[in-house]
Amino acid sequence: MEITWVKSQDYNLFELLSDGEFHSGELIAENFGITRSRVWSLINSLENKGVLISRVRGKGYKYNGGSKLLDVPKISDALSGLQVNYIVECSSTNDMARDEAENQIKPLLAVSEYQSGGRGRRGRAWASDFAHNLTFTYMIPNFYTENGLEGLSLVVGYSIARTLSEKFNVGVGVKWPNDIFINQLKLAGVLVEVQGDITGSYNLMIGIGLNVNKLPKLDDRIDVQSLNRVLGKAIDRSALLIAIIKNLMEDIDTFSRLGFVEFKSKWNDLDVFSNQEVQVQQGDRTVVGISRGVDSSGALILEHNGCNTLVHGGEVSLRKVYG
Ligand code: BTN
Repeated sequence: MEITWVKSQDYNLFELLSDGEFHSGELIAENFGITRSRVWSLINSLENKGVLISRVRGKGYKYNGGSKLLDVPKISDALSGLQVNYIVECSSTNDMARDEAENQIKPLLAVSEYQSGGRGRRGRAWASDFAHNLTFTYMIPNFYTENGLEGLSLVVGYSIARTLSEKFNVGVGVKWPNDIFINQLKLAGVLVEVQGDITGSYNLMIGIGLNVNKLPKLDDRIDVQSLNRVLGKAIDRSALLIAIIKNLMEDIDTFSRLGFVEFKSKWNDLDVFSNQEVQVQQGDRTVVGISRGVDSSGALILEHNGCNTLVHGGEVSLRKVYG
């Protein structure tokens, strides 16, 4: 078992409160060997990170949101061959993985309960509340494929969608290039970054954010969803993370050997914008057309005035044209 494990007082407090019972400030202070005012500031810190805590005079503090901390030994046992680095709070798991990449021989899973500077695509932030969702990076050192990188992020999106469908029997879709949708709302996003020479071998960081047990408190978008709201129950995040990584390893292996062509029709079957009018934003340029799915390299086929154009990944955004 290879785990690098960094815990914190936030971790200990959440662990205590996640039994769903009331705990008095006095007893918490005594157990942790800290002052009552330190307990108060730790409670505030968890609340600021999105944890909903009930406070009742004379009884103390209680959390009954149903989410549990990640079970790191279970994750590591189930994913043999993978180094697991767990930090309760970090800036971004992609950065955490990148910092380790040069010394890493085998794939690494960098996972945290909370990111203070989570990053999304196109310079956006990625918000996720403490111990409720999944924020992790699967890093492959010295990755090389003759097929190039195009299509990889689509494979990641497909892999997550198929895992969710297999595990929960729900209809999950993909949106080009790498969003995961459920009931027309965004459930997860993927941020693929590389370190090194992309014409040769490089360290590949696949960062994934998935709303599992709570809609992010700080997310200002209305078009987002979380799994627990769809399924009506709290989800075991550790079991879900294990299932995602197992399928991801399998799908990336297929992609490296055979290329995106192996995934083209499977991806197109899950495409939420298939045959709909969409708007593609590439820098200052906006193109409107009918989305006709992806070709065998993973490029988006956009039909405009009867002609097809291919849109390649990068800093591109796609949205549906309404009305
Ligand atoms: C997006 O949809 O814009 C991509 C979101 C990617 C978020 C994940 S969370 C884990 C990893 N660390 C980050 O800072 N970002 C990615």
